[in-house]
Amino acid sequence: MKLLVTGGSGFIGTNFVLQEIAKDKNMVINLDKLTYAGNPDNLLSIENHPNYTFINGDISDNNLLNTIFFEYEPDAIIHFAAESHVDRSIDGPMDFIQTNIVGTANLLESAMSYWKGSEKASFKFLHVSTDEVYGSLNDSGFFTEKTSYDPSSPYSASKASSDHLVRAWHKTYGLPTLITNCSNNYGPFQFPEKLIPLMIANCLDEKPLPVYGKGLNIRDWLFVSDHCDAIVNVLNKGIIGETYNIGGNNEIKNIDIVNQICSTLDNIKPRSNGKSYSKLISYVEDRPGHDFRYAIDASKIKNNLGWEPKENFETGINKTINWYLKNESWWRKIQEVKYNQSRLGVDVRGKNH
Ligand code: NAD
Ligand code: DAU
Repeated sequence: MKLLVTGGSGFIGTNFVLQEIAKDKNMVINLDKLTYAGNPDNLLSIENHPNYTFINGDISDNNLLNTIFFEYEPDAIIHFAAESHVDRSIDGPMDFIQTNIVGTANLLESAMSYWKGSEKASFKFLHVSTDEVYGSLNDSGFFTEKTSYDPSSPYSASKASSDHLVRAWHKTYGLPTLITNCSNNYGPFQFPEKLIPLMIANCLDEKPLPVYGKGLNIRDWLFVSDHCDAIVNVLNKGIIGETYNIGGNNEIKNIDIVNQICSTLDNIKPRSNGKSYSKLISYVEDRPGHDFRYAIDASKIKNNLGWEPKENFETGINKTINWYLKNESWWRKIQEVKYNQSRLGVDVRGKNH
């Protein structure tokens, strides 16, 4: 198959592209705008691989998309490209509207003309989305594919909009689409603005570990390679027009994650002053509109497609911490030129709401 991957130079896209190229089966065309989150270093190891092509461009560029479809005739699109960080969406929502909503609509339109005009009866458009579209849970319950949408942040609202657009293009025009809604990913190549890599980097820099609110918010964590496997399963076996929730069955409070990172590092890279990294924990002002709990019911993908995660949190977090230890130059370069782990998403506009 020829796969057109959007956002393949970001965190999940990189892991997906590397996994696909390693299988030596499919061709991958990676279309990425290389925003702050897209990193060309991630895919240097495959830049000359005969099955891999990189195109630096924007999903909002209609002419470029039409040229790509004409030239490469992909069998499927895996649409990862997005602005992905909730805190940045609080500081500046318009990039999220542009890429996640307008960009997705644009990609749907180009895919439509290509699909209508091509001979590819088996063409598929797989839209990669998030569990955040469902909003926030209290102490009990799970998100199923039937849960009503109730997004809280500009990021999740923009992803919810993009999901609705994808469904509309399927229902109205028959475009063969699939949607996946996944929980929090972690693993190699995650930009150090997100909780887990930020805490690892701050520990190693002996900087405060900023825990929002009381640290009691809960996320369901999935190791990134398991997410990539799930996407391949949905692409190959999913029913056109359907949605699949993907989750790790790993509900953990933020403070427990931070403590686990600290105790793992205490063992494998102790601080020179003999104190635990947990002494660096600092409770800071909460994220505005902070969703309390996410939890995924992944029984549909398990029962219908036979997918289950291979990693548990213990194995996944150890692999992740070791990756950041071994690849310090990767995140140091980001620190120097892109982001130094400063606090994002403090609500400077709506303080009194
Ligand atoms: P990321 O921010 O690490 O990467 C996004 C990539 O998209 C970057 O390479 C960036 O350069 C590219 N991009 C941004 N705007 C673009 C545009 N206009 N045109 C072309 N490329 C553009 O994000 P991620 O964490 O890898 O997430 C990938 C996708 O998975 C997103 O759609 C996100 O909503 C979804 N998702 C993420 C998670 C998670 O925990 N990270 C969980 C569920 C779903
Ligand atoms: O649920 C899937 C979503 O998970 C994806 O759609 C998003 O793209 C991805 O960024 C992620 O969103 P979160 O907001 O859950 O991830 P983040 O790593 O930003 O935060 C995880 C939790 O940790 C959240 O409750 C906020 C908290 N947090 C985060 C940071 C960066 C802190 O307490 N301190 C921090 O410094």
